Amino acid sequence: MEKSKNRREFLKVGTIGSIGLVTTTMACASETTTEEHDSIQAEGETSAKEINKPIVVSTWNHGLDANKAAWKVLDEGGSALDAVEQGVRVTESDPENGSVGLGGRPDRDGNVTLDACIMDHQNECGSVAFLQHIENPISVARKVMEDTPHVMLAGQGALEFALEKGFKKTNLLTEKSKEEWEKWCEESKYKPIINRENHDTIGMLALDKEGNLSGACTTSGLAYKLHGRVGDSPIIGAGLFVDNEVGAACATGVGEAVIRIAGSAIVVELMRQGKSPQEACEEAVNRIISKHKNVEDMQVGFIALNKTGEYGCHAIYKGFNIARRDQQDEGMVDSTYENE
Ligand code: GLY
Repeated sequence: MEKSKNRREFLKVGTIGSIGLVTTTMACASETTTEEHDSIQAEGETSAKEINKPIVVSTWNHGLDANKAAWKVLDEGGSALDAVEQGVRVTESDPENGSVGLGGRPDRDGNVTLDACIMDHQNECGSVAFLQHIENPISVARKVMEDTPHVMLAGQGALEFALEKGFKKTNLLTEKSKEEWEKWCEESKYKPIINRENHDTIGMLALDKEGNLSGACTTSGLAYKLHGRVGDSPIIGAGLFVDNEVGAACATGVGEAVIRIAGSAIVVELMRQGKSPQEACEEAVNRIISKHKNVEDMQVGFIALNKTGEYGCHAIYKGFNIARRDQQDEGMVDSTYENE
């Protein structure tokens, strides 16, 4: 397999990630009081760093519409937590999207089963796994976070909890998804389709006007998976991780590979050690490559966002892209990658 890290695009991401309209400045080393900030600057020990906030970044083309809903919340001064929930709900409710929520591709037995998680700036988190019949699993995950002492509910228990909370039962298998699945059943070859340029999962990270981070991740998982299979997306530390002192990260692609390296937690820990969001995503991708004998049929991509609103993204293969919205504008950014 040809190695072809795209350095030109690396620079592009790094540059775009740091040019947003400045709304606030603060010492980059840590959150400090104004007095501390001033004295640090006077002594010249560290330079003030511009903070690009608010900002929201999310996976794939479907992130553009999701970001619009998130941006409405952020622009009005709402929290990053509300923004990511409202944002990914758009993708969950889009019947044309075959990898998330309504219209998501079913497992090999024809059941649409959903995974989702959400995490805020106070290390609070909630998650649902193997949830059926509910269009917006991210909002159920938020209820788990806010209304229970638990982090994760799965399967029938998650469904019963959702119904108790007033969520409505919905048939998530659209005619289109059903027809595609029936066609797949003719051969029933289970092989994950590498999502080089297809969409898989929406992961979203946001930094609000207060400077707080949150993230959300939601998916119908790998198409035609084994019944009962759960991927990385509902697992805090795998599909998503947020540490408000440092940054946030989320993953897309083959969840098993992400779980094996605790992917999003690793990206955040690498940022804690001083790596930029871009460098942290690159190292996590390379760790996946080094831990797997064969990544031929395996796409994984990471996004990271730090406390200054700088972001990065990197994937095993070409084709991953992310949507970004900040004070300056909105747009798509092609991810850097390891292999063509
Ligand atoms: N990353 C989505 C999944 O593997 O289920």
